[in-house]
Amino acid sequence: MSEPSSTSTTVAADLLVVANRLPVDRVVNDDGSTEWRASPGGLVSALAPVMRKNEGAWIGWPGDTGTEVEPFENDGIALVPVALSDQEYAEFYEGFSNDTLWPLYHDLVAKPSFRREWWDSYVTVNQRFADAAAANAAEGATVWVQDYQLQLVPQMLRELRPDLRIGFYLHIPFPPAELFSQLPWRRQVLEGLLGADLVGFQLSGAAQNFVRLVRQRVGHKTHRDTVYLPDGRVVRARAFPISIDTEGFEELARSEPVETRAAEIRRELGNPSTVFLGIDRLDYTKGIYARLRAFSELIADGELDVEDAVFVQVATPSRERVDQYRRLRDDIDRLVGRINGDLGRIGRPAISYLHSSFPREEMAALYRAADVMVVTPFRDGMNLVAKEYVACRFHEDGALVLSEFAGAADELRQAYLVNPYDINGMKATMMQAHRAEPKELSKRMRAMRKTVTENDVAHWASTFLDSLALDRDAHDKQTRPPHES
Ligand code: G6P
Repeated sequence: MSEPSSTSTTVAADLLVVANRLPVDRVVNDDGSTEWRASPGGLVSALAPVMRKNEGAWIGWPGDTGTEVEPFENDGIALVPVALSDQEYAEFYEGFSNDTLWPLYHDLVAKPSFRREWWDSYVTVNQRFADAAAANAAEGATVWVQDYQLQLVPQMLRELRPDLRIGFYLHIPFPPAELFSQLPWRRQVLEGLLGADLVGFQLSGAAQNFVRLVRQRVGHKTHRDTVYLPDGRVVRARAFPISIDTEGFEELARSEPVETRAAEIRRELGNPSTVFLGIDRLDYTKGIYARLRAFSELIADGELDVEDAVFVQVATPSRERVDQYRRLRDDIDRLVGRINGDLGRIGRPAISYLHSSFPREEMAALYRAADVMVVTPFRDGMNLVAKEYVACRFHEDGALVLSEFAGAADELRQAYLVNPYDINGMKATMMQAHRAEPKELSKRMRAMRKTVTENDVAHWASTFLDSLALDRDAHDKQTRPPHES
């Protein structure tokens, strides 16, 4: 991607996305030159068409610290960068977002740190995003705020611009009241979210957790998915399970270069009869350690043989300066080393481990090359890798082993579901998937493909935005709450 051309300092957009990251990251090369590269996450492919149609603007952080960048246009979308200082990167991004909220919202898989100076930075940075949205929104515009890094933005924005229609979508799980209540700033976060007209979650259980907490901790009246505020405004909380660009992935998987590359991958692995595959951000919520142990035990037990089975694990580097992530990386490095040292043979490692991120084409080739996809998070908002695998299996073959604690398990019922805390159970299910008859596999895959084809990311975006617009019409008619709460 080339250096963007700068436009005016503010835009007047009718539709704004406010997300922690811009769709492109600013990367500084060794020679000091800068370029823009696609940023992590698939949100842009979901929202790009609707943003282009609506003269949309995207407000986000360019992925590095320091330099202020003027708004610019990229691929038909106005991008408005919000700068973070080194200290804010440490306190807002690594600290409060990823060392407080992330573990707290993921079932306490790791212990969250509660630090008051991180909270202060979270407030400051959320206000900066809200200010940027307020400055760039046309009269009566729709603003869609994304994810846990920006939960205070809806309320801050409403205070600045009561004319706006505001939606919020949480991409990660929303914890049960018992866990959320640990947060010293629980009330402020709930009130921040209540600035939105519509708060979207991956699953209906999360929406219910939120409504219950609002009733308990803020004291507002609620009825089913609706919160009634004292000033007469209503806020709805509903589930909108996110998805992928299903057609785009399938097209890629069907392309000749990807087919050739998939065959090459299998050859390079020594033509084993079964390729198991895991692809994750290197995150402690993903259950990578437990899954690799399960696989290694299947080899040690003699159920699988390194001569004809291999596990390819891709772990994308992530949040590398945060302690828990650094420790995880060391743990996985050691585990892979031990497994390959104990169980591998010359030219036949049990695990082929890649600590790296790959372009979409290579991912599609890996999905095509894999017989058994293993997705075993301890907790995951959705998990799009599971859906991408299904989208790429247009021959209706291949098996998906999926954690029941991934949001995707709600929709992909025909996957081989596992409890990632139960290593023996995982071993048994991985073997069941490995030994399944082609007829059984195609029956399951066909059903899952129907689900991801019908519910793609365009459907997700339009359902959310339609619901936000519809609620606006209904809003005027809605006056009094029912008596119950
Ligand atoms: C998850 C979050 C996203 C985040 C992504 C990558 O999917 O829901 O908001 O952007 O992880 O993490 P990073 O910390 O690199 O943005």
